[in-house]
Amino acid sequence: MADPKVTGLRSAEFRVPDLAAAKKFYEDCWGLETAAEEGGTVYLRGTGSEHHVLALREGGDKKLLRVNLAADDKQAVDGLYEKAKGLGASVDAAGDLGGAAGGYGFVFRDLNDREYCISAGLATHAAQPAAKDRPIKLSHVVLNSPDREAQSEQFIDLLGFKLTDRTGFMDFIRCSSDHHAIAYTTINTPTFNHCAFEMPSHDALMFGAGRMKQSGFPTEWGVGRHGPGNNIFAYFVDPNGYVIEYTAEVEQVDESYKVGMPADWERPPELQGDNWGFADGASDRMRAHTK
Ligand SMILES: [Fe+2]
Repeated sequence: MADPKVTGLRSAEFRVPDLAAAKKFYEDCWGLETAAEEGGTVYLRGTGSEHHVLALREGGDKKLLRVNLAADDKQAVDGLYEKAKGLGASVDAAGDLGGAAGGYGFVFRDLNDREYCISAGLATHAAQPAAKDRPIKLSHVVLNSPDREAQSEQFIDLLGFKLTDRTGFMDFIRCSSDHHAIAYTTINTPTFNHCAFEMPSHDALMFGAGRMKQSGFPTEWGVGRHGPGNNIFAYFVDPNGYVIEYTAEVEQVDESYKVGMPADWERPPELQGDNWGFADGASDRMRAHTK
């Protein structure tokens, strides 16, 4: 077969201390909908067809347990498994997956021993019409990585990702037409930075941000428009300290995209992170929770 590759970002899995409270926040404030509950895990969906975009597992304080990635079919999963194993990655044997969505896949560990599950054949939903204030899907995850360039190379070489842009402190890599599915940022602890949920429009992002504000969760950074990815953003901190983002208008790229390097992304300080020059920097509270 052609070189197997990852073709999408499915979901993230958060460990939480109080499942009922976390579920209520993500339903009432963030705009997700429970798709299934079993075995101490709540699976939350957006309006898109993905079975879930966020899983909450009860068991303790903040920890990103896993990032779930898509491959096109079982053959691609097997191809990726053999390639990753052959090139020395830490992997668990491919097989049928448990959990509410089912499917077939394997666990892959990155250079910092973080878990990703690469899967195919999961249950799906009929996509709902885009809502005026609810997320469609998980758009990207950002992970702190002591050696981000080596980490990006692993995903490019083993999993078929492509480098879209590299700034002085972040690598943006993609596995679909979305500008990035994962970004690795240079912070010397291999921890979770944040993840972003795609809103259908700028207007929907504002409705969501308004609902969060009225619920007692002010915007910690934004509203602004990022440089790499050209996406609109508004960042928040959830009740357990996870930094979460509403995003919209993510740049769509193809093979013709000219990969940006740090010199291409130099900006004056007032435009660092926000092309509009409107958003002040991230709050101290948000910065504390992205480390
Ligand atoms: Fe982001």
